[in-house]
Order: sequence, then structure tokens, then C-alpha cells
Amino acid sequence: MKRSQDRRRTSKKRSKGLKATLLIAVAALVGLIIWIGTNDWNVEKTLEQAGLSNTDSEKPETSPGSEDKEEEDEQNLPPAEVEPAPPEESTEKGEDDTPFDGGYVEGQQLPSEPTYVKDILIANKKYPLPETFAPGESKEARAAFEEMAAEAKLSSFNLTAFSTYRSYDYQVTLYNRYVDRDGVEAADRYSARPGYSEHQTGLAFDIGEVNHEKHWASSSFGTTEAGKWLLANAHRYGFILRYPNHKEEITGYMHEAWHYRYVGKPIAEQIFKKNITLEEYLGIE
Ligand code: DAL
Ligand code: ZN
Repeated sequence: MKRSQDRRRTSKKRSKGLKATLLIAVAALVGLIIWIGTNDWNVEKTLEQAGLSNTDSEKPETSPGSEDKEEEDEQNLPPAEVEPAPPEESTEKGEDDTPFDGGYVEGQQLPSEPTYVKDILIANKKYPLPETFAPGESKEARAAFEEMAAEAKLSSFNLTAFSTYRSYDYQVTLYNRYVDRDGVEAADRYSARPGYSEHQTGLAFDIGEVNHEKHWASSSFGTTEAGKWLLANAHRYGFILRYPNHKEEITGYMHEAWHYRYVGKPIAEQIFKKNITLEEYLGIE
């Protein structure tokens, strides 16, 4: 008799315990759904908030060239362009006692007109743009990109340009953010100071693969089949890899496997075949 009462009590306890566990699980599930909901059903963003994402990735821009979207992102979301932190060992040029200038000309003011060399618009650390220069995304470059993306699709690569035209003001936000994160010296190796970004010309396209965001603005993009296809074919559509490996002393920036610059087909062909940078082609290095 006593034993059967004990058994009943144990079984009651167990069922109470089970109910409590079930309740906690349901509450946790409801909480999780609400949390994802408050993040616009963006699971990646929710994981990032929880510190569970495997990238330090910031939400990429989905509608390139849209200033409204960019400004919206500035409020809540991380920037469109995700830049990698520079490698530990420095390939910094100059003597040890040379003060760091980031490759810029000390005291240089932004000009009132942009610079064209051989009819090519140049934007680099020596040739800045006016603050007011705001051409938007180049229609010619966009058309060339779409043509290239259509051909890439035939090889099953779904290319997208996740950052193209950027205004002076937006570059201020991006550059400052990277300086805050990595310091001036490191940031200057991968992010242009406001007025010096090629993105402000509307001719620079940061390219990645749809649904492969982890390679966006990452050197790993260069090791993907899509990245290799782009490297081998972009010139046929008028694009050049703007910051190649081992050319930092000339271009002023670390290798960026994703950053392509539209220069038109004839010039892109020449730059590609000679394996040179835009600076070398223009004779301004
Ligand atoms: N990441 C390139 C250098 C830019 O900021 O324009
Ligand atoms: Zn870029």
C-alpha cells in the first residue's frame, strides 16, 4: 500500500517536472520567435546580436547606390561595406622613423575639380575628389556589370554588386567606424579617407556572390570559383581588379579581391594583359 502511494507520488513529481520543462521550452521558443521578429525576421542579424555569427560581418547593402538605404543602415544596421582587418605582420613602407602618413600628402586640401588622366577619372590617396562630387552610380558601369553578371550566370555564378556609389558623407561614416575599430594606421590600409574613395566616382563595384555573404569583402572571395571567374573575365566587360595582391605600395591599399573598377573594355584589356595597376597604366605611381 505504502509502496504504491510512493510510486504515485514519484510519478506525480515526474509529470510536474516534465510539465515545467515543457513550459520553459515553449516560453524559450516563443521568446526566440519574438526576438527574430523584432530583427525583421533576419536570423543572421539575430545570431550576430547573440554573438553566435561566425563572421564579424556587418549587414551588406542589398540595393547598391541607394543613399536612403545607406542612411537607414547608419541608424540601426552595420555598414554596407565589410572590410577585413589587416594582417598582423605589416608590409608598411617607409623608414622606421618616418612619421606615418597613410600614403596621403600631408596638408592636402580636397580640390574643386576631379582629376582626369588620359580621360580616366582617378581617385586615390594622391588624387582626391571634391567633397561635392556626387555623380551617383555610373550607368555605363552598371550596364557592363549586368552584362557580365548575365554571362557569369551561365557558369552558375550569381554575382551581385553589394556596394557601388558612396557619397562623401557616407564615406565619413564608414572610415570613422573603421578607425574606431582598428585605429588610423590599420584603417588607412583598407578604407579610404572621405574624398579619396573610388566609390565616390560611381565607377567602383564591390562584387560578391548572392547567398555567399561570408565571402563578401573578404580575401576568401578570391579563392572561390566565382572570384576566380571574375578575376579571369572582368576585363572583357571593362572592369579591373583595382587593388591587386603585392601592389599596396602603388595603389595605397591592401589586396581587395572584391573591389573592381570600371575603366571601359579597351583599357581594361591592356591593364589585364600587362598585369599592371591603374596607377602604372596612367603613369602616376
Ligand atoms: N576600400 C576602398 C579602398 C575604399 O574605401 O574606397
Ligand atoms: Zn570597394
